Amino acid sequence: MTSSAPVRIEKMISVFAERGSRHYGENVSELEQALQAAEFARMYGEPESLVLACLLHDYGHMLHDLGEEIAQQGVDARHEELGARLLAGSFPEKILEPIRQHVASKRYLCWKDPSYLAGLSESSKLSFQLQGGPMTNEEASEFEANPHFESCLRLRRYDDMGQVPVMTTAPLESYVPIIERYLQS
Ligand SMILES: [Fe+2]
Repeated sequence: MTSSAPVRIEKMISVFAERGSRHYGENVSELEQALQAAEFARMYGEPESLVLACLLHDYGHMLHDLGEEIAQQGVDARHEELGARLLAGSFPEKILEPIRQHVASKRYLCWKDPSYLAGLSESSKLSFQLQGGPMTNEEASEFEANPHFESCLRLRRYDDMGQVPVMTTAPLESYVPIIERYLQS
């Protein structure tokens, strides 16, 4: 994948400020969901790089202009690829790849354990069909060989957990020092 120019930290924060109130069919807003996923990653003692990946996993969701009800309209924005593409050149692969693969991780987990699907949010179940349903055996084997495979699955678990209607989380600003540590220039 070609790298784009590094995203400035002010730009990232402004995307959350301007577009983080969108819901995309979930109980929580984009900003709340990002903060909750990152909070859970922190609670479980994950490295800062994975915490940051959790915070930014739906960055692409906030930046497509297809509206908030796209899954209901049968549209897959491929937001995971868009987010990874927009952040390419700004962060290392250990952050980009779990973001890029967070839909693939859902498809893998549904292949691995069919009961996983039942635990997903309604919105995630709906988008799942548009995203291709469970992986095939071949796709799953290939995914397991991904050098960031474990981090990809862990991000997905925290993403799924981050759907709590009311939850106190650290504010977005508290992540600025971590973003600065990983931001590549
Ligand atoms: Fe997502």
